[in-house]
Amino acid sequence: MPVALRPTISAELRDRLRQGNRVLVLTGAGISAESGVPTFRGGGNSLVWKGMPFDVISSAQMVQRDLDAVWEWFDYRRNLLSDVKPNPAHQEIASWQDRFANFGLVTQNIDGLHQKAGSRDVVELHGNIWRARCTVCGLTRDTGAGRPDACLDCGDRLRPDVVLFGELLPAGAFERAAQIAATCELCFIVGTSALVYPAAGLPEIAKSAGAYLCEVNPEQTPLTYLCDEVLPGKAGEVLPLIGDAF
Ligand code: APR
Repeated sequence: MPVALRPTISAELRDRLRQGNRVLVLTGAGISAESGVPTFRGGGNSLVWKGMPFDVISSAQMVQRDLDAVWEWFDYRRNLLSDVKPNPAHQEIASWQDRFANFGLVTQNIDGLHQKAGSRDVVELHGNIWRARCTVCGLTRDTGAGRPDACLDCGDRLRPDVVLFGELLPAGAFERAAQIAATCELCFIVGTSALVYPAAGLPEIAKSAGAYLCEVNPEQTPLTYLCDEVLPGKAGEVLPLIGDAF
């Protein structure tokens, strides 16, 4: 990143990084953009699949109406993801879990790149594309790149273990994330358009609990006004700068 364009890490943030114990990082699709994973929105566009807006094919109704079409969409996404690698932003965040006493990583991403970078204990708010779930008994299993036929337990049909539009988040996931947000001192918002709730509500919980909010995104979002510090830029370039600041 040309030196001139590098965002400056404030003295305030450096101090809080040095003294901070309880840190929350909330990530969205933007953190995986530099790994080659298309975001859903951003740049004024939103993703379309076979003429269908992604939030139509990625919906609970579509699972009822045409589960095969939903699998086709996720097979396409898994194919895109099959050889992508974590980028410096994922790697930097993975290193923070050993730099802060209480570190929480909450992601809206289903790509598993945080775990590939070595992050442990990731709170996946929207599920994981490498897992499937039984449409009847709810049993989940890892899928790898394949599309498993039926539930190993009850034999019923499987669907991607991903939260679709119109569906609730996995049991306990948001509660855990909200707990981390309510007790953190420092909250980083990285690569999310902050349009989808309840995930976008987590920084608001952190703010009202007195946390210092820092946003990393090349664009402004509905949460920018709430932030104590805004670092405009790409996560893969800005996160290492933050890591070098303490
Ligand atoms: N670094 C940081 N941020 C980036 C980068 C980058 N290299 N590239 C793009 N961004 C930002 C965009 O400016 C945008 O604000 O990432 C954001 C991506 O927004 P979305 O595509 O809306 O992704 P996200 O916020 O994660 O979407 C939330 O919506 O579609 C559902 O379930 C899906 O989890 C997803 C949820």
